[in-house]
Amino acid sequence: MIDIHSHSLPGVDDGAQTMEESMAMIRAAKDQGFNSIILTPHYITNTKFESKVKENKVILNALKKAVKDAGIDLFLFLGNEVCYRVDVLDFIDQGNYITMNDSRYLLIETKSHLADLYNFEAFLFKLQLKGYTPIIAHPERYDFVQKDPNVLANLVEHGSLAQMNILSLTGAYGASAKETAEILLTHNMVHFLASDAHRPMSYEAFGQAKEMAIDLVGKEKVAKLLNENPARVLVDETIVIDDPDFYEDSKKRKWKLGNLWKK
Ligand SMILES: [Fe+2]
Repeated sequence: MIDIHSHSLPGVDDGAQTMEESMAMIRAAKDQGFNSIILTPHYITNTKFESKVKENKVILNALKKAVKDAGIDLFLFLGNEVCYRVDVLDFIDQGNYITMNDSRYLLIETKSHLADLYNFEAFLFKLQLKGYTPIIAHPERYDFVQKDPNVLANLVEHGSLAQMNILSLTGAYGASAKETAEILLTHNMVHFLASDAHRPMSYEAFGQAKEMAIDLVGKEKVAKLLNENPARVLVDETIVIDDPDFYEDSKKRKWKLGNLWKK
């Protein structure tokens, strides 16, 4: 398995703070069966999480050496988790952050309360015009997707991909994120499952979460989301996706049926 979203690079964001903590995370990931991790430090303009690619590469090399010296057979790659802002695209040309392993795929997060969905959509479109494929990080955690999962179906229909935090299925991010995660996963709106690990313990419930995902969509689909699609990101290959299924709220459906009976 390949983890495409992890905060295991030490001392650059709110993830691992020290090399020891990074190594503990990498050992925990290896124990769960991961053979590769894309390290995705936050890139949030005008905050302390604005580490530069050049610095991250130096830290990555030190971490790779520590992993090799410890005899752990696991590959590490670099990316970023870029926080959406209207002008954040300008900074990619300046080399402030990078795509996943320098591919066409860029991991994008946004605030939970997104006031300007229109501008966010325009941003995702601009990214694609520049040749990038956006991967929307943990959509199940955003208010605007929890309120209407079909917002994500629309974004996927317009060329974005989506990465779910697998621990959302266990309720680690609350009941609403769990319910939304199940909807997104069963309606073909998710293309990657990843950890978004910030601490070694983030990997501990991984096995349980994976079983829950298998119960919902089966082994083959889960393998696609944890192995095949992430591997395509690493080698910058096209990912062919199934059309998203639009979600119809069963409560609303019952209400509509009830109204029909009355007529
Ligand atoms: Fe993250």
